[in-house]
Amino acid sequence: MQTHEIRRRFLDHFVKAGHTEVPSASVILDDPNLLFVNAGMVQFVPYFLGQRTPPFTRATSVQKCIRTPDIDEVGKTTRHNTFFQMAGNFSFGDYFKREAIEFAWDLLTKSVDDGGFGFDPERLWATVYLDDDEAAGLWQEIAGLPAERIQRRGMADNYWSMGIPGPCGPCSEIYFDRGPDYGVGGGPLANEDRYIEIWNLVFMENERGAGPAKEGYEILGPLPRKNIDTGMGIERVACLLQGVDNVYETDLVRPVIDTVAAVAPRGYGQGNHDDDVRYRIIADHSRTAAILIGDGVSPGNDGRGYVLRRLLRRIIRSARLLDITTPIVGDLMATVRDAMGPSYPELVNDFDRIHRIAVAEETAFNRTLASGSRLFEEAARTTKASGSTVLSGKDAFTLHDTYGFPLELTLEMAAEAGLSVDEDGFRSLMAEQRARAKADAAARKQAHADLSEYRELIDAGPTEFTGFDELNSEARILGIFVDGKRVPVVSRNGGPTPERIELILDRTPFYAEAGGQIADEGTISGTGSSATAKAAVVDVQKIAKTVFAHRVTVESGEFVEGDTVVAAVDPKWRKGATQGHSGTHLVHAALRQVLGPNAVQAGSLNRPGYLRFDFNWQGALSEDQRSQIEEVTNEAVQADYEVHHFTTRLEEAKAMGAMALFGEQYPDEVRVVEIGGPFSLELCGGTHVEHSAQVGPVTIIGESSVGSGVRRVEAYVGLDSFRHLAKERALMAGLASTLKVPTDEVPARVANLVERLRVAEKELEKMRLANSRAAAANAAAGAERVGKVRLVAQRMASGMSAGDLRTLVGDIKGRLGSDPAVIALIADGGDGSVPYVVAVNSAAQDLGLSAKDLVQTLGAPVQGRGGGKPDLAQGAGRKPAGIDAALAALRSELDRS
Ligand code: ALA
Repeated sequence: MQTHEIRRRFLDHFVKAGHTEVPSASVILDDPNLLFVNAGMVQFVPYFLGQRTPPFTRATSVQKCIRTPDIDEVGKTTRHNTFFQMAGNFSFGDYFKREAIEFAWDLLTKSVDDGGFGFDPERLWATVYLDDDEAAGLWQEIAGLPAERIQRRGMADNYWSMGIPGPCGPCSEIYFDRGPDYGVGGGPLANEDRYIEIWNLVFMENERGAGPAKEGYEILGPLPRKNIDTGMGIERVACLLQGVDNVYETDLVRPVIDTVAAVAPRGYGQGNHDDDVRYRIIADHSRTAAILIGDGVSPGNDGRGYVLRRLLRRIIRSARLLDITTPIVGDLMATVRDAMGPSYPELVNDFDRIHRIAVAEETAFNRTLASGSRLFEEAARTTKASGSTVLSGKDAFTLHDTYGFPLELTLEMAAEAGLSVDEDGFRSLMAEQRARAKADAAARKQAHADLSEYRELIDAGPTEFTGFDELNSEARILGIFVDGKRVPVVSRNGGPTPERIELILDRTPFYAEAGGQIADEGTISGTGSSATAKAAVVDVQKIAKTVFAHRVTVESGEFVEGDTVVAAVDPKWRKGATQGHSGTHLVHAALRQVLGPNAVQAGSLNRPGYLRFDFNWQGALSEDQRSQIEEVTNEAVQADYEVHHFTTRLEEAKAMGAMALFGEQYPDEVRVVEIGGPFSLELCGGTHVEHSAQVGPVTIIGESSVGSGVRRVEAYVGLDSFRHLAKERALMAGLASTLKVPTDEVPARVANLVERLRVAEKELEKMRLANSRAAAANAAAGAERVGKVRLVAQRMASGMSAGDLRTLVGDIKGRLGSDPAVIALIADGGDGSVPYVVAVNSAAQDLGLSAKDLVQTLGAPVQGRGGGKPDLAQGAGRKPAGIDAALAALRSELDRS
């Protein structure tokens, strides 16, 4: 009986019994705890938990399931699949144990003519949970199973959950006895290869908590209702009904084995057990990989992507071990599509994408497998030669880091070579690398410092630059790099720190930054089946001077190595870029015309609308030189010179007088750009306008120094130049209106205003002086006798500076004569500061007083710091509110002296 028929019979059986047929869910459901859907019940979990009301109380489905924990068993046993189809019937608070057993028994044992599977009841066995007498009784009653064909097992086998918190319950499994050819008797307890499990009936009645996957977890309590969840393994039933030896030889899996056999030098089932295991691994993993990609997984370095990568790499490696030397993954995907398409239309509809992604991973891995295997063999040999049986963590790390070998692959290869691997050593090197990567992240701007990852593409030859002739080019993706590591596929930039994604194409119209011209902007889009892929090009840099790396932001879809794409430069951007670059040549030529041949180019940068040009020159340019350069440049624009470019030998170009950048390495064949014949002749690989008038107006906006003997002019070109001028005009109009004069009178008006301001300031200064004299006279007049001295201690007008206070103090001191005197002036600086000055004349110093000490007394209440000499000291505080207290403190200090 064919697999499709088995599926159909199962569903019909339960639909007839009032179940709603529900299609398979994707193998990826939104549960972060669950890598893949691993049972038919997963899509119904909210119904079991009572979180949602089911639209039906009975359902049936055939669910795509993925289970990878037993990946190492695949191919070695007769029954382990990483992908399988689980047929199930479900009751949500409707029927329970009795009907579940009745339905299952009926379908299994009913004759084929009656729509059943026609299993011989004598060869069926059941297991029940330890204390589930009810289920055991029902098996006897309904199926007539004798007690010895009902075995009891513990939690690990007969209590089912998804392995994570959720619904759970005791279960009862149905086994088929394949007969003495498959080993000893004694039921499933004794031999699970001979007694093969075909159906599990779960009596879903409790909810479990966190804890170990299979046993020893906490049971939180009963579910709101008792439910049924069953799972029948379609592949296993097919294996039995088709009379084949194992699940890999059933009608939907066997074609994959045959596809492999068609290209392998050694056949399947020829008595070589290792080979047969390899065939089965390929058969199993191909189906899983196709299903995973179909449901949206891309190969990656963690989570689901990593599982897919591992599966694909195991396929490729198994093929190698079968001595298959040609690429095979594409054919495998096609075979899976043909076999499974009738049940899973996504494999047909989405085949192009599935094919592309799988093949790209194969290409990427094949590249590293060959060199990695050599390294492994060498490492294994030296390990053994040294008498050790443990491959070092460093070797495993190198295989991972340089050759992309997953640790599991190294472990497998080591096991085959009779070695183990220092896994701890491997992990600690991985941790070190992660720490390094973090530190490197900051320095990532320094991209392409390490070329090893790009070496293969560099060796493959230069990128063809089509951008002199066209802005849109069809091209093929030769390589994809994420943060400098080569990957087969890339989709949207994600994650907390955006990744550095680079696409390398065989040809491109994008100009890569060089010769002062910055890179083009534009888009790279997929074609055909990958038409949704779209990326914005944010930068283009040449690697090793030959390979163009397009740094992109992926906006939608995904790019796969080998894809055909359309690279399209933004025409507006390019137009601006040509204006900027041709404008630079014009300014360069004008500069030399005005300043002479000593003005040698030292560097340049141009982008749409803007250019800057550095040149060797001593001293600033005069206003006159500046405007001459501007004039000559714009005359060249106005002359509408033709722009030519041609390639010639370097010597010849130099003989023609073409400008080259000093110290730059040029190839023998160079490109020369000529504007207006002798006006401008430069070695240049950049993109240019066709006529100089297309540059548009050029406005020099600045001239400055950038280091000793190097000057820089900056200019706007084209529309930006116009906009700059328009802005200045608006500025002028604003000034004119504020000054209330016509624009051409603004300079005279401003000059007049400046002069008036100067006169006013002088007047002001005079008045300040007079004021301060008067203040000094006042202060001197107000001197009081405190202790043995005459004291002037005053708060001065706010806003006075320390300098003002010092001048005043001197003035007052002069007025007080030779009797012992102390002057202390303090003011609120108005900006939060409190300047103060203390002067002590020599007579007062003779009495033992010192300005240096008194300034501390004065400063404390205003939180000031100060110091000075015995005759004059000053300080500044920051608490204006303390000024009165400060003066009082000084007075009482002198009072005591
Ligand atoms: N959910 C049960 C299982 O996967 C039927 O075995």
